[in-house]
Order: sequence, then C-alpha cells, then structure tokens
Amino acid sequence: MNILVTGGAGYIGSHICVSLLRKGYSVIVADNLHNSEIKTIHKIEEITNHEVSFYEVDVCDSAALESVFVNNQIDGVIHCAGYKAVGESIEQPVAYYKNNVGSTLTLIEKCIKYNVNQFVFSSSATVYGNNVSPVDETMELLPTTNPYGETKAMSERILKDTAHANPNLSVTLLRYFNPVGAHESGLIGENPKGIPNNLMPYITRVAKGEFEQLQIFGDDYPTKDGTGVRDYIHVMDLAEGHVAALYNKAEGVSIYNLGTGEGTSVLELVNKFSEVNNVDVNYQVVERRDGDLASVYANASKAAKDLNWEAKRSLADMCRDVWTYEQRK
Ligand code: UD1
Repeated sequence: MNILVTGGAGYIGSHICVSLLRKGYSVIVADNLHNSEIKTIHKIEEITNHEVSFYEVDVCDSAALESVFVNNQIDGVIHCAGYKAVGESIEQPVAYYKNNVGSTLTLIEKCIKYNVNQFVFSSSATVYGNNVSPVDETMELLPTTNPYGETKAMSERILKDTAHANPNLSVTLLRYFNPVGAHESGLIGENPKGIPNNLMPYITRVAKGEFEQLQIFGDDYPTKDGTGVRDYIHVMDLAEGHVAALYNKAEGVSIYNLGTGEGTSVLELVNKFSEVNNVDVNYQVVERRDGDLASVYANASKAAKDLNWEAKRSLADMCRDVWTYEQRK
C-alpha cells in the first residue's frame, strides 16, 4: 500500500511516516518545506531503514500536485500540510484560509480524479470551541477563537460534503488534542522557528537556558490548581492512531478524537518535566492569554472501540523523549 503524506517533513507528519514505514506501508511525501527541513526525511529513513519518496511540492499547486498522482499509484492520503500558528492566523487570515482550505480542496479534487478512496485529515480539538470537556465526536462544533481553528472546521465540512457526494470515498477526520514529545530515538521532533507559541517547546527552551522564564498564562482558572488543563498526547501515539485509521475502510465520514482522555495542568506538566529530566524550569504566573479555555480534554473511547487504538505512552515518556530530542538536535 502506498500512502501519500502531505506535510510529511513536519513535526506530526514525520512521526506518521515512521509509523507507516514500520507497518510495511510505502510512503510518498509532498511538502513545500515552508516550516520543515529536508533533513527530517533523511532522519525518517535512518530510523526506519526504508526510503521515502519525496516531492517538494506545495499542495495548493494543482499542477505540481497532479504530477505526484500521475507518477505514483496512491492507495490513501493523510493530509497534514498546513499552517498552524494561532496568533499568526489572526494577523494573516487570508494566508491561512488560502493555504489550509485551498490545500484540502486541491487534494480532495485529485483524490476524486485519480480514484484514491481513502482520505485521513489532520484536524484539531479546537473545532469543539468551548464545548464542556470531556468532548466527544457527537458534539456540535462551536466557533473557534481564530482563523486557524476555522480552517480546520471548514476543511472538515468540505470533506464531509465531498464524501456524501462520492459514495466510494472513505474520509476519516482525526481531531488531535495536544501532541508533544518526539520519537524515542531523538532523531526527529518538534523544532518551531522563532519564539514557540505552545507550552512544551517553551518549557524545553527555558530548561536549555535559551529563555529565562516560562510565563504561565493564568492560575485562576476553575481547574485543579488554577492553571489551564489540556490533554497532552505523545506524538508517536498520535502517529499510530493514523495507521489504525487506515485500517478503517468504512464508507462515508468517520470522526475520531486522538487524545489520552486525561487532563494535565500547566503546573503538572512543568513539574513532571523537571522531575523526569532533573532540570529546573523557572516560571512566573502572568495574565491569562486571550482566547484560551480553562480545560480541554478528550473522551477517547470511540477510537478505542472502533480502531482498537489507545494512547499508551505516559506523561513521563513525553517529557523524556522531547528532552532527548532537544539534546541530540
Ligand atoms: C493551541 C491552540 C490550538 C492548537 C494547539 C496545537 C490556542 C488558543 N489554541 O492550543 O488551536 O490546535 O495549540 O497544539 O492557541 N501556556 C502557558 N504558557 C505558555 C504557553 C502555553 O501557560 O508559554 C498554557 C496555555 O494557557 C494552555 C496550555 O499551556 O493552558 C497549553 O497551551 P498550548 O500549548 O499553546 O496549546 P493550546 O492552547 O491548548
């Protein structure tokens, strides 16, 4: 089976490629290297001892993408390519809608044209808006607080409508919670350019001494210790969730949360990171960040039941693996 992974050189895509190659799939990557590097493809090959067929292609570029479909017998697509910085999406909404919605449209169009009937989409728990956690797949989607979130909701909608119009098409929407960690080899991981927006990459920068202090955005939320609660999931568990989703050949649309079902507070994560890696993480509590919710975690039972997939790795594993990567890179 040949699987096309868009954004396969990126943080999540690269871990998906490793999981696929380990399970015997052949992998084709289409990535424009906007927020990733070619060396990641070489690291995937080093970890798995298998080759990746790489195309430096912008998924929005219809002609370039078409050549990937013409030159390969593709059996399924995992669509991860996209912009993902929430703050940037508020400043540059047009770029976000154009890129994230445009790539979904271009890719699904090629799938229909070339009769590729399995489509897995990298969505986000952000589409639940302020539904009360634990959130489950039956809930009505609520507005998100930013264009990035809306591009995920719109892409979901486009794929649902397309599946209804094309009965042979199987679409799986995977709603990610908070992916963190790295492959246990430390060869691939998350490497955000500039100042990281997300918590875990910020913690690692502070632990390394690159930044003086972590700012904890609020300790007056109605949560166990007042800091924000999220469902952190090891990126390799997330990657394996995609492989499990490929076994699902149900026609129409299937939706799954990929999370652990456990809520962890900012302070709990910081303390776990310090304890596991034996490093200090200096922090200061500041004002809440605009648009943040108090508590977001999954009901993860549907994926367990239908896909026979559950997150196996612990918070300690996430903290250890991310630190191994930071020190090797
Ligand atoms: C954010 C995005 C979400 C996206 C996800 C990707 C927002 C509003 N949401 O989610 O759409 O899918 O990233 O992983 O940005 N925190 C601090 N200090 C920091 C950074 C974060 O205290 O320097 C806190 C936040 O307030 C939050 C938690 O850490 O409680 C997690 O934050 P983050 O890693 O940015 O993820 P989300 O906000 O859940």
